Parts: sequence; C-alpha cells; structure tokens
Amino acid sequence: MAQLQDKVAIVTGAARGLGRAYAEALAAEGAAILVADLNDGADTVAAITAQGGRAVATTVDVADADSCVAMAAAALEAFGRIDILVNNAALYAGLKGARFEHLDEKQWDAAMNVNVKGTWLASRAVVQAMREAGGGSIINVSSLAAVFGLPYGLDYVASKAAVIGMTRGMARELGSDNIRVNAVAPSAVMTEGTEEFFGEKFEKAKGVIASGQLIKRNLEPSDVTGTVVYLASDHSALVTGQTHMVDGGSWFL
Ligand SMILES: NC(=O)c1ccc[n+]([C@@H]2O[C@H](COP(=O)([O-])OP(=O)(O)OC[C@H]3O[C@@H](n4cnc5c(N)ncnc54)[C@H](O)[C@@H]3O)[C@@H](O)[C@H]2O)c1
Repeated sequence: MAQLQDKVAIVTGAARGLGRAYAEALAAEGAAILVADLNDGADTVAAITAQGGRAVATTVDVADADSCVAMAAAALEAFGRIDILVNNAALYAGLKGARFEHLDEKQWDAAMNVNVKGTWLASRAVVQAMREAGGGSIINVSSLAAVFGLPYGLDYVASKAAVIGMTRGMARELGSDNIRVNAVAPSAVMTEGTEEFFGEKFEKAKGVIASGQLIKRNLEPSDVTGTVVYLASDHSALVTGQTHMVDGGSWFL
C-alpha cells in the first residue's frame, strides 16, 4: 500500500521548484495535496492529477495570519482533514545577496516575515485539525546555508537558522498531541530558484558546491523528496525535533 494513503498534505510554495517536487512525491504515495502558493498552483495540480493523484490549489500568503487560516479551511473543505504540512514557501530566489552591512533592511524584514513568521503562522493554522486527526507531521524547510553560515546572505541564513530552532521548540510543544515536527536542510538544489539566487555566478557556484560535498554531484529535487516523504510517513513515527541534512555530505549535525 502507498505510504500516505488517506493522508492529506498541505505544501506551501508548491507552485514551482522544490515545493512542487514535494507535492508530487507526497501525492505519488497516496496523499491528497493542497497546493498552496502566492502564485497559481494549477500546473502542479495538473501534474498530480495526470498521475492519478488528488490535488487542489489555493492562493496563500504565509506571512498573513488570516490567509493561513483560509489555507487550512481550504484543505478541510476539499479533503476533510489535515495530516501533513510542509512549510516550504520562502523568500529565496529573489533575495539580493550582499555583505552583511549592505543588506537591504526591507529585504531583511521580508525574509523574516515569510521564512520565519510564515512557518509559525501556517503551523498555527493547522495544528487543531492535526489534533482532531489524531496527530500529524510538520516538515519545516531549513537549508545548509544556515548551519554553514553562507556568506553574503545573512538575512536568509538567519531566517533558516531560526527554522531549526522553531522545529525543536514546536516538537517539544506538540509531541503530546502526537504531532511531529522535523526539518529538512538541503544543500543547493538545481531549481529555478537556485539559478536566480546565484545569478551569473550559478555555473561557478555549482562546481564549488559539488566539490564541497562527499558525494560530488549537485542535488536535483528528486534527491530531497525521499526525505520529505519519510518524515511525512509513519516510517518516522518516533522521529521529531530533528533537522535532516540532505547535502551530499557537506555538513554533519
Ligand atoms: N533550491 C535550493 O537549493 C534550496 C536549498 C535549501 C533550501 N531551500 C529552500 O527550499 C524551499 C524551496 O526552494 P525553491 O528553490 O523551490 O524556491 P523558489 O523560490 O523557487 O520557490 C518558492 C515558492 O514559494 C512561494 N512563495 C514565496 N513567498 C510566499 C508567500 N509569502 N506565501 C506563499 N508562497 C510563497 C513562491 O511563489 C514560490 O513558488 C525554500 O524554503 C528555500 O529556502 C532551497
């Protein structure tokens, strides 16, 4: 039987990139998916339904509390329960890197609002439905950037380091509800977002990143989806509060 049969998952930021890959992978294991994004998630929904899966899209701004409440309501209306939340939406691709004293203050606030506060607001919006479902799995998305301390992107680094702390704190608060909270921390994955993030330095960055790994090839989205499916499934029933590096062996936590 598929690992996530009868489960319902919300994946934020699932209109493209890694979020879309997570949504497709969870659907392939039987979960019904709410594709939640600022942008139109119709392509992700079409890809899932073409494979025989179940998905609907909703527009959400994870930095807005009411929007997160509406997102949870949309999942309940479409599928009747919520078991899994992947907090994948983030400001990443569009961030302008700079030495820390030159970072834009508005960009700093925006990164904190979406990447940190958005993770809290989306989680807060779904926990009661997870309690009613008998438990759940929240999967936060951190990054190798946080634990390595990526230079020239301190706003992003700080936001993704906060996600690790939040994962630990939320896991401690939600364990008694049988809600597990874990994080996945990928290295640079070959997505449109990564190409935009590195801009003209993309080709050079690819080589530097791969050579810093023990397994010396760049990550594709399909290298990360298995960890997310595992964390969503009962195979990780007693795993909570953990941050899983998926980075070809760049960093040991
Ligand atoms: N791609 C990588 O190499 C990499 C590595 C480590 C971690 N990550 C993290 O993985 C996640 C996805 O990465 P990606 O490369 O697919 O990023 P991306 O920038 O391509 O996609 C992010 C998605 O989030 C959506 N989004 C942005 N702000 C939102 C908001 N306020 N509310 C709802 N949706 C919003 C965007 O519309 C977009 O579809 C991010 O959390 C990123 O920080 C990425």
